[in-house]
Amino acid sequence: MIWLTGSQGMLGRLVAAELTAAGLPLHATDREVDLTDHRALAAGAPPEAPAWVINCAAYTAVDRAESEREAAWALNCDAVAHLARYCSTVGARMVHISTDYVFDGQRPHGEGYHEAAPVNPQSVYGRSKAAGEGALREELAAHLIIRTAWLYAEHGHNFLLTMLRLLAQRQELTVVNDQHGCPTYARDLAGAIVQLISCLEPPTGTVHFTNAGVTTWYDYACRIQRSALELGLLPAARTIAPVSSDQYPTAAQRPACSVLECRRIREQYAITPRAWQQALDDCLARLAAASNISPGR
Ligand SMILES: NC(=O)c1ccc[n+]([C@@H]2O[C@H](COP(=O)([O-])OP(=O)(O)OC[C@H]3O[C@@H](n4cnc5c(N)ncnc54)[C@H](OP(=O)(O)O)[C@@H]3O)[C@@H](O)[C@H]2O)c1
Repeated sequence: MIWLTGSQGMLGRLVAAELTAAGLPLHATDREVDLTDHRALAAGAPPEAPAWVINCAAYTAVDRAESEREAAWALNCDAVAHLARYCSTVGARMVHISTDYVFDGQRPHGEGYHEAAPVNPQSVYGRSKAAGEGALREELAAHLIIRTAWLYAEHGHNFLLTMLRLLAQRQELTVVNDQHGCPTYARDLAGAIVQLISCLEPPTGTVHFTNAGVTTWYDYACRIQRSALELGLLPAARTIAPVSSDQYPTAAQRPACSVLECRRIREQYAITPRAWQQALDDCLARLAAASNISPGR
């Protein structure tokens, strides 16, 4: 039995699908089991002790977190500690998802952050996620923290769907060109999670997973437009102009370098993430298939 929290979120929905496809018994919960309420958490646990808890629930409103510190902390740190204590009590292992925002983003983008690099978050969201990692390490030895970045899927709130919407609505848009990272298809991460928990020797510690390669939001947006035009998901090409982060102020500071070094997952677990462009085309093809659009239309 696996308890999946945040099962209606962008990543959670795909983890649920992968677990179901793998034939693994699943207890899936989302908002109806409020993880920030300790009694609700205990009452919402599966009737039998799970072998794994996979925590995909999180407070992910990065900018809003700057003015909602308590809410971000309650779910990204305190609830993680409670879930970890629950796991410790029932003898379960826990997978927890974390983020590039735990780093300060100051590294030259040619060098990604490896798992042991010191954290130095620059936003409330990043601090709450780093605190959640720390709480989990303290409470439960049998944990696996998977850090990822720039997630997208064919559902949920993400850059890919925002770009497709804006490119359909506007003649011109501006996109930041001085932040580096790797777009990561949540479906690929979900597959990696199921592979990791299926290992004979259960993995522990911290591991990074993103798709392969490095780009900027601007180049990513251009690539989205090109592929979406080919697939008939957009009617016409629009102008995409590069801007610096200074020209696009946000409440929360974004890391200039979000590149995560993924050597550990490749070498230790034989999981080789595919190129981000290939994953993006796969996701766009699924979107086109879902909207009954054939390429070239
Ligand atoms: N998205 C990214 O680009 C990105 C990048 C790096 C790391 N991550 C990490 O990846 C993980 C998954 O992210 P995601 O984008 O899939 O998040 P998401 O779509 O926001 O999903 C989170 C889920 O948790 C639910 N939730 C909120 N408050 C809850 C509560 N009190 N109790 C139980 N469930 C609650 C949410 O419900 P509502 O929708 O109703 O709020 C949502 O279904 C998170 O740990 C995130 O920090 C994400």
